[in-house]
Amino acid sequence: TKLDLELAAIEKGGYEHFMLKEIHEQPDTIFDCLRGRLLPQSGQIIMSGVDNHIDALKNAQRIIIVACGTSWHAGLVAEYQIEELCRIPVEVEYASEFRYRNPVINEGDVIIAISQSGETADTLVALESAKEKGAFIFGVVNAVGSSIARLSNAGAYTHAGPEIGVASTKAFTGQLAVLTMMALKIGYAKGTISEARYMQLMHELQAVPEKVKEILADTSVIQNIAAKYKDAHDFLFLGRGYNFPVALEGALKLKEISYIHAEGYPAAEMKHGPIALVDDQLPVVFVATKDSYYEKIVSNVQEIKARKGKVIAVATAADDVIPGMADDVMFVPDADEVIAPLLSTIPLQLLSYYVGLAKGLDVDKPRNLAKSVTVE
Ligand code: G6P
Repeated sequence: TKLDLELAAIEKGGYEHFMLKEIHEQPDTIFDCLRGRLLPQSGQIIMSGVDNHIDALKNAQRIIIVACGTSWHAGLVAEYQIEELCRIPVEVEYASEFRYRNPVINEGDVIIAISQSGETADTLVALESAKEKGAFIFGVVNAVGSSIARLSNAGAYTHAGPEIGVASTKAFTGQLAVLTMMALKIGYAKGTISEARYMQLMHELQAVPEKVKEILADTSVIQNIAAKYKDAHDFLFLGRGYNFPVALEGALKLKEISYIHAEGYPAAEMKHGPIALVDDQLPVVFVATKDSYYEKIVSNVQEIKARKGKVIAVATAADDVIPGMADDVMFVPDADEVIAPLLSTIPLQLLSYYVGLAKGLDVDKPRNLAKSVTVE
């Protein structure tokens, strides 16, 4: 009815789709996630779920992250963060695989469960059996009071608010924000990061909402790129280090929203297969921000250009090398590599949104997908 249509329009807050609204909410949702927790002025990060179990967390022999879909990609970023900052070995598991292979869970292992909905059946069942085996479960969940939140021994909410678009956007950056704070807190308590690095990363994290705002202020370049490449049949997404999971997430978003086949790969691994796909038709998205892998990724870009691939790069503002090599560039503000995924993922969300839109697809409800998969 007309009333339903009007209500739907109000809920979208002036945006054409929930997905676009949720992408644009991220400066606020990330801010809300950090608010009252991240206190660089006093050098503190307050998260009661972590504080109350700090010994279990910092003395963990191993951390196993269990999740599905986009949440699994947040887990991969956390793997890099926790190993670097806390020196604890981390494994990131697809919940469905973890559950059925009779995993080894030892005393002193900690499981971090990541879920937007808190209701994903594969994740829930995996956690139930791990809990029976005595594992300590820390939940990073968006939906307050959900099944996974209730099953967890402790946790931290992402506070992103209800996410309606089927493709996860603001929940993902909320997960990254929570996991970054956890890694910083545990690393600091353990003494595996210096005071200076802890303080620097706290300030970097606090600056994220403003930097996301900068990316969102003008999306016209991304819209033009989307229009240019919308008819491609395949996309490759490449990244290294902290940006490797961002490449995977970029490929997943594009698949979900535009139905274009896309593969995410670690940039160095492309020579072991995907490079065979490269011709003058293939768009290759490089997540190539300035970090410790930068020189390496520059040579990966050269390898693609030498084979006439089309390079679309996510690059750091003021970088003058990558833009000279790439066919198209989406800029993000400079950030420490530990924090960078919170920024480099934003242009890729927008790219898939605008490709889907240009193709006239239902971006909020892509075919065959469900917001929350409550069957195994
Ligand atoms: C579905 C959704 C994805 C989500 C995944 C895991 O596939 O479409 O967006 O990442 O489930 O969901 P969860 O709620 O556990 O994060």
